[in-house]
Amino acid sequence: MTDDHSDPTGFEADIKPLFRDLDRDSMLSHFDLWSYDDVSRHADAILARLRAGTMPCDRAWPDAQVDLFQRWSDTGKAH
Ligand code: HEM
Repeated sequence: MTDDHSDPTGFEADIKPLFRDLDRDSMLSHFDLWSYDDVSRHADAILARLRAGTMPCDRAWPDAQVDLFQRWSDTGKAH
């Protein structure tokens, strides 16, 4: 996809902003939550933790936010 506006869910516009500074800093020893390549590579592990409510460590994401991440991951991980 070349036109960002035709893409319903993209990493830069929709996914990256979900990760706070605290999230990124806490997880940097494992992967960079602000990096498209890292989040794409670890998407299954990230989704499992989000869905289980065990990450972030201080609170669970709302279901709708987890659903958005899953949709992005399941539909080709658009930039
Ligand atoms: C949306 C934000 C976050 C996501 C998606 C996330 C995701 C993950 C994932 C997938 C792992 C397993 C890594 C592995 O085994 O290779 C993990 C581990 C860990 N995370 Fe996070 N994390 C987030 C935020 C945080 C925050 C805010 C903290 C604490 C300040 C934290 C602390 C840890 C710690 C201590 C571990 C290693 C111990 C464990 O596996 O439970 N994370 N995280």
